[in-house]
Amino acid sequence: MSIHDDVEEILFTEEQLHEIVARIGAEINRDYAGKNLLMVSVLKGSLIFMADLMRQITIHCAIDFLAVSSYGNGTTSSGEVRILKDLDQSLAGKDILVVEDILDSGNTLSFLLKNLSARNPASIRLCTLLDKPERRKANINADYVGARVEDKFIVGYGLDYAERYRNLPYIGVLKPEIYQG
Ligand code: IMP
Ligand code: MG
Repeated sequence: MSIHDDVEEILFTEEQLHEIVARIGAEINRDYAGKNLLMVSVLKGSLIFMADLMRQITIHCAIDFLAVSSYGNGTTSSGEVRILKDLDQSLAGKDILVVEDILDSGNTLSFLLKNLSARNPASIRLCTLLDKPERRKANINADYVGARVEDKFIVGYGLDYAERYRNLPYIGVLKPEIYQG
């Protein structure tokens, strides 16, 4: 009995994820040279992506974390976003890069973009490991995108279903019987 048995299909292997993260890291190193980079991880989903991405960054940077209300235990967004845990520091004069696991309806990132922009950062950009453009409701796009995915509920590498499967080292699609209980 292992969490791996619940995965129907692997979408991104550990090696593929490493390549994606290295590519985004190189783009950030190029774009943020000479800037005052603060990487803001949106907990908990972006935890592993953030940890891998920041180790690809070769310029000076600082990190911070925030948490927002999420899906509960379902697989669709409620549309309502709240900050559960805020940043430790002021954003004034800093170049903010928000690091997310997946951009789906866009509700979370459009809320954060508005909220963080009001704190007078020098600049603000969005980085998401995955993008599900088919499901977008808010008018928002990320500046850095790891990969586009179809409209399937996926888990692993930080992404959860009911708080489980975040510890899978790859990203995969869950077997349907897991949702059906
Ligand atoms: P949005 O607000 O609808 O764009 O949703 C963003 C958040 O929903 C992400 O940070 C994830 O936590 C969660 N999410 C969206 N799609 C998936 C998925 O396929 N698997 C796991 N979590 C997801
Ligand atoms: Mg999340």
